[in-house]
Amino acid sequence: MRVVLINRIFALCVVCVTTVHAQTSLTSFVNLFIGTASGANGGSGGNAFPGAAIPHAMVKVGIDVDTAPRQAGYIHDNSSVTGISLMHDEGTGGNTNGGYGIFPLFPLFNCAFTSCPVALDARKTLRVAGTDVASPGYFTTIFTNGIKLETTSTRRAGLIRFTYPSSTSQPLVVIDLANDLQRSFQGAGSLDINSNLARVTLSGTYLQSYGTDNYTAFACYDFTPPSQVSANANQSLVNFGTYTSVSSQNKANVTISANSTSLSFPFAGKSLGIETGALLQFSGSNTVLARFGVSFISTDQACANAEAEVPDWNWNSVQQASRRAWEDVLTRIETNTAAENATVVELLYSSLYRSHLVPANMTGENPYWTSAFPFYDAFFCSWDTFRTVHPLLSIISPVEWAQIVNAYVDGWRNTGYIPECRANTKKGYVQGGSDGMPILGDFAVKYANQASQLGVPTDDLYQALVDTAENTPPNWYMVGRQNTAWKTFGYIPTGWTDPSGSTGLPTREASRAVEYAVGDFAVRQAAIALKKPDGDVTKYTNRSMNFENHWNPNITSDGFSGFLQRRFANGTFAFSDPVACSPRDTVGHSCARGTDNNVGFYESSSWEYSFFFPHSMSTLIDLMGGVTTFVNRTNHYFDAGYFLAGNEPSFAIAYAFNYAGRPDQTALRVRNVVFKNFNTGIGGIPGNDDSGAMAALLVFHILGLYPVPASKQLLLGSPLLSSFSLRNDALGTVTHFTVKNFDPRSVQQSPPADQGIRLYVSQVTVNGKKAESICWLSWNDVVGGGDIEITVDSDAAAAQERGCAGSLPDSLATCGFA
Ligand SMILES: *[C@@H]1O[C@H](CO)[C@@H](O)[C@H](O)[C@H]1NC(C)=O
Ligand SMILES: *[C@@H]1O[C@H](CO)[C@@H](O)[C@H](O)[C@H]1NC(C)=O
Ligand SMILES: *[C@@H]1O[C@H](CO)[C@@H](O)[C@H](O)[C@H]1NC(C)=O
Ligand SMILES: *[C@@H]1O[C@H](CO)[C@@H](O)[C@H](O)[C@H]1NC(C)=O
Ligand SMILES: *[C@@H]1O[C@H](CO)[C@@H](O)[C@H](O)[C@H]1NC(C)=O
Ligand SMILES: *[C@@H]1O[C@H](CO)[C@@H](O)[C@H](O)[C@H]1NC(C)=O
Ligand SMILES: *[C@@H]1O[C@H](CO)[C@@H](O)[C@H](O)[C@H]1NC(C)=O
Ligand SMILES: *[C@@H]1O[C@H](CO)[C@@H](O)[C@H](O)[C@H]1NC(C)=O
Ligand SMILES: *[C@@H]1O[C@H](CO)[C@@H](O)[C@H](O)[C@H]1NC(C)=O
Ligand SMILES: *[C@@H]1O[C@H](CO)[C@@H](O)[C@H](O)[C@H]1NC(C)=O
Ligand SMILES: *[C@@H]1O[C@H](CO)[C@@H](O)[C@H](O)[C@H]1NC(C)=O
Repeated sequence: MRVVLINRIFALCVVCVTTVHAQTSLTSFVNLFIGTASGANGGSGGNAFPGAAIPHAMVKVGIDVDTAPRQAGYIHDNSSVTGISLMHDEGTGGNTNGGYGIFPLFPLFNCAFTSCPVALDARKTLRVAGTDVASPGYFTTIFTNGIKLETTSTRRAGLIRFTYPSSTSQPLVVIDLANDLQRSFQGAGSLDINSNLARVTLSGTYLQSYGTDNYTAFACYDFTPPSQVSANANQSLVNFGTYTSVSSQNKANVTISANSTSLSFPFAGKSLGIETGALLQFSGSNTVLARFGVSFISTDQACANAEAEVPDWNWNSVQQASRRAWEDVLTRIETNTAAENATVVELLYSSLYRSHLVPANMTGENPYWTSAFPFYDAFFCSWDTFRTVHPLLSIISPVEWAQIVNAYVDGWRNTGYIPECRANTKKGYVQGGSDGMPILGDFAVKYANQASQLGVPTDDLYQALVDTAENTPPNWYMVGRQNTAWKTFGYIPTGWTDPSGSTGLPTREASRAVEYAVGDFAVRQAAIALKKPDGDVTKYTNRSMNFENHWNPNITSDGFSGFLQRRFANGTFAFSDPVACSPRDTVGHSCARGTDNNVGFYESSSWEYSFFFPHSMSTLIDLMGGVTTFVNRTNHYFDAGYFLAGNEPSFAIAYAFNYAGRPDQTALRVRNVVFKNFNTGIGGIPGNDDSGAMAALLVFHILGLYPVPASKQLLLGSPLLSSFSLRNDALGTVTHFTVKNFDPRSVQQSPPADQGIRLYVSQVTVNGKKAESICWLSWNDVVGGGDIEITVDSDAAAAQERGCAGSLPDSLATCGFA
């Protein structure tokens, strides 16, 4: 009888859970461990961050391990945990030791207070295999010594709970001041224990992870849960003290000073390499609950942030609010999760999650200027994110996006230039162009009419674009562009000394130039959208075509002619092999930013960058020798192994076929790219997630769309879902996409040609009317709130014959983007 009853209750629960599921639990499809494999020894580490965070949060709290590379602190392997720290980056490259990882906590027990193993190497602990568990807003793991760790968070604050083995009567907690992920404590900082309040405040200066500067951050830890927090009602501080290395030569030898309440390091100006922090001991239960707040302004503000955002220490309400915030983000793309391919659903929602982690909303935390505008940080870097992250936000997250765009504009307002790569609140290195330009241009094009409702002053936005397009900063390696060269030559000359005295790292000439061209196209687009003078439109249209000035028609590689090359100031080309810096490079060139890069391209080959002419692909087709050769060359780029899936300049190339009237090839190639390079495992991202760039790319691939920078055009592929809807809260629209004749067998890497698999787009209708083309969709339709029906069939020959069944996507040279 009893058993039957339980079974009936269980059956009822399954029914109700399923119902709720379909509507409100998209967070359950998010796998936070995708892209957390070790990148050591050539592994495919995505550097994804799997800890607790709300969308675009400043606080990203999670565990840190002792083996590098560990850019986001966490690695899903058996390396030891050194602490649980409050801020992290998401998916970045940069310093392999990681970014942030500041103010870690660490739980200890069973030690005499003054001889506890507080130092990093002495305390670090393994995890029990399989106990790392994460969901949006929550992370937990169990150490091999039996301690369970959990965390949840708000924008600038959060809670950390340690549950010690039940026999523990007086658990301890280390609060580490010195060990950020880079171990870069600059010898400027302080720590204060207020034993009456059981409050510890900290400030410290550390090195940024991508750039040459330092930053100062503040934290506030409280250990006095109010009495209604039942499990921790009796938590009381019984011992406290500080610890410091005996010397920097003998840093592991630490002295713990009981009852000492403060540490103060005046300023050393270099990484001290010492261990220092506080040790606290509690009684009352075998758990310790800590509330924390973070700030870039002051310790007072860090405490105020904690008090405001986690007022009653209510774990469930913090975790549920975080989950609800994520649910809101995820429901902006809805699909029938039960009917679609489960792998695709998991990839979609995990990727949607990761594309909303950064940039970080640091409004109220700007240490450098006061402003009424939002402050966002972790633009790491615009080079990575302008292609996919921002265009995705433009479609489904306009409110956040407008704030982020405002933060870019405010960066210009206060520094003279659009920020390019700002992280740890400081300027990082400029990789290519000033790639905030296409982001701002995109906003102007898409939201000119709603800009004031969204709070973005478009005259300022436009001036930010023009100033960044015209002026040359003293050091264009940290912000802005080498405009003196660009304007004098129409290309970026190799080995040229700027008479104005402006300098920067002079490498990557060809790839910088073609990004400058895209930046100028963005100004042109903004000028049209914002009704600026015709002279501006003409000027920037003209400059955006300077891509051609780096094109040497006489260079041949694998039988294909015409490649981007470096050029000297006298106009002659400087040769570098188009294969250099591609995966097929056998010579081993230097391909990063350094002065030893004599190839002219950033982290990419001429084979790859020679496709980057998004605003005039018809010009590129002509330069490459016509449509047939172009299609051959694009296929050869993939088939011969020049394609680098983890590299941003490669993103658009799978859609290049649309410009040649061959969307059938796009449909096949995108499937190949997706299922060869992405999966739901810890190694499921090819290369670094790059602040969500790979994640947003995968979302677009799944939807069968690819955005053209600074334009209202999206290239159309063949979706991997049978239906989905896109919600835009600023426009108040939900657009429904249906794939008529959708074939589940089309969801694979290489659909066999002889099985009648339906994947070629044959017709597109918008609200029942035939669309202008099956190769592209207009922004107005994608966010228009109507019904878009995409019909697919299996006839490859007919697909080739059909071409775009209408117009090709826009190119400037064929009078597109009018
Ligand atoms: C950790 O994993 C690596 C690779 O699987 C293995 O070689 C090593 O022995 C493991 N170490 C420990 C401490 O389990
Ligand atoms: C807290 O202490 C009181 C008084 O000693 C005790 O009755 C209560 O059970 C304790 N609560 C917890 C959660 O340990
Ligand atoms: C650690 O430092 C203390 C105090 O200076 C000293 O007495 C002790 O020998 C040192 N221990 C080691 C292992 O260096
Ligand atoms: C710390 O203070 C407590 C309480 O005043 C006292 O009992 C203890 O002896 C002190 N410890 C040291 C090392 O001074
Ligand atoms: C941080 O860097 C600045 C220069 O960028 C330098 O003036 C300052 O002394 C540094 N501060 C610390 C605490 O290292
Ligand atoms: C960013 O933070 C500010 C200040 O709290 C807030 O007004 C704004 O809504 C936040 N933005 C988002 C997208 O949550
Ligand atoms: C751009 O302007 C220059 C100078 O007027 C002219 O020589 C060039 O042909 C123009 N380029 C294009 C693509 O219109
Ligand atoms: C390419 O080769 C042709 C024929 O030799 C020559 O006339 C032309 O100047 C060359 N162009 C460049 C850019 O080297
Ligand atoms: C152009 O400049 C380069 C680099 O200084 C030089 O090697 C080359 O000979 C020059 N070409 C001409 C035609 O002057
Ligand atoms: C394109 O490739 C096909 C076979 O792959 C080849 O037969 C043809 O000659 C190529 N055409 C051009 C223009 O490169
Ligand atoms: C979903 O697609 C993947 C990738 O092709 C495939 O491996 C898997 O079997 C599909 N799942 C189902 C349920 O068809």
